[in-house]
Amino acid sequence: MQIIAIYPGTFDPITNGHLDLVARASRLFHKVIIAVADNAGKAPLFSLEERVSLARQAASSHVNVEVIGFDNLLVNCARQNGATVILRGLRAVSDFEYEFQMAGMNRNLAPELETMFLTPPEQYTFISSSMIKAIAQLSGDISSFVPDVVHQQLIKKFKQD
Ligand code: COA
Repeated sequence: MQIIAIYPGTFDPITNGHLDLVARASRLFHKVIIAVADNAGKAPLFSLEERVSLARQAASSHVNVEVIGFDNLLVNCARQNGATVILRGLRAVSDFEYEFQMAGMNRNLAPELETMFLTPPEQYTFISSSMIKAIAQLSGDISSFVPDVVHQQLIKKFKQD
């Protein structure tokens, strides 16, 4: 049986922290789907299409990783794509409460899906997409936190403003 894991998030934009999790998950599961949530409520800097494209380019070295966009319920998206595992990262204790609540709700909605957590290596525990955008906007050096393709797009985005 092929085990497919779905890794949902807003990915605005995808960072080296996310990619570290993807790399480790790609060794654990037959297939990993990075599911980019539309999440208009979060007022993302990048459009859904841009976020999907950046994630696709950033994860292109993994043959068993696929990137999709979605704007429906995560559990329905997981079912539609044959995933049985929802994957999330836990960076710090502060992530736990929100993740615990979301895992509980998703279990309630779809008991056949299992949420699994991976933890990042030390150098990525403090990364977040918002912080990276804030630093990039003020022309700070973000090169060690994001893949090159994201770095270039962030520079371009903030030059337009
Ligand atoms: N490395 C680096 N950063 C990480 C990370 C990691 N391993 N894991 C999380 N983050 C950061 C993200 O960059 C993000 O930072 P930001 O808030 O500064 O942008 C933050 O942690 C959390 O974002 P993310 O992991 O993208 O989750 P989210 O809260 O934006 O999205 C969804 C959560 C998309 C999974 C959830 O809203 C969802 O499932 N939506 C679909 C609708 C649905 O089914 N809702 C019911 C859910 S119960």
